[in-house]
Amino acid sequence: MSLNPKTAQQTVSITTEIVLPNDTNTLGNLMGGRLLHWMDICAAVSAHRHCGRVVVTASVNNVSFNQPIKLGEIVTLQAKVSRAFTSSMEVFIDVWVENNQTGEKIKCNEAIYTFVAVDQVGNPIAVPQLIPETEEEQKRFDGALRRKQLALILAGKMNPHDATELKALFLIKKE
Ligand SMILES: CC(C)(COP(=O)(O)OP(=O)(O)OC[C@H]1O[C@@H](n2cnc3c(N)ncnc32)[C@H](O)[C@@H]1OP(=O)(O)O)[C@@H](O)C(=O)NCCC(=O)NCCS
Repeated sequence: MSLNPKTAQQTVSITTEIVLPNDTNTLGNLMGGRLLHWMDICAAVSAHRHCGRVVVTASVNNVSFNQPIKLGEIVTLQAKVSRAFTSSMEVFIDVWVENNQTGEKIKCNEAIYTFVAVDQVGNPIAVPQLIPETEEEQKRFDGALRRKQLALILAGKMNPHDATELKALFLIKKE
């Protein structure tokens, strides 16, 4: 596969699901675990579109369930790579629920997953760089290194002293 850079738009993956009885809890609302599963697959397709390799989920961050999604509602997920590093890619997933009567889509959830491209024996391999184009893509790109450093610290894979990008957030500038 080529390592030519790709735009964020080239990595978009969209999934639409309808909430069926088997997806719900005893209150008739979508189970969080089912939504995480849908997000994982949608985001993996996006990461795969970026690098064209087998990808594995390395971490899941910033997931919040802001409102219950009900039986019969239509859920749309959009995943897009926000930044690529050496072998890892950060992917944002935005989730909307569709009003049955009006068709209006309301954003109800956002999550950030990290995938790593691996070879046939599971060793990390290089991925192309990502080019942000819109204002939102640039904002997500800019914050990605901070989030990567935080995820690595929490996973015990990085010494907080080395997290320069993250530490810069807390530095108070002297006039
Ligand atoms: C993800 C995995 C390939 C990383 O392997 P590793 O030996 O830690 O490899 P490295 O330390 O060289 O890290 C490789 C990349 O993963 C990133 N990474 C590793 N752990 C991470 C974490 N917890 N969060 C974010 N990124 C992580 C590193 O930053 C590095 O990124 P870079 O190359 O872009 O700089 C390995 O841990 C793995 O196979 N995990 C299981 C994946 C899986 O089965 N997922 C499904 C869950 S059931």
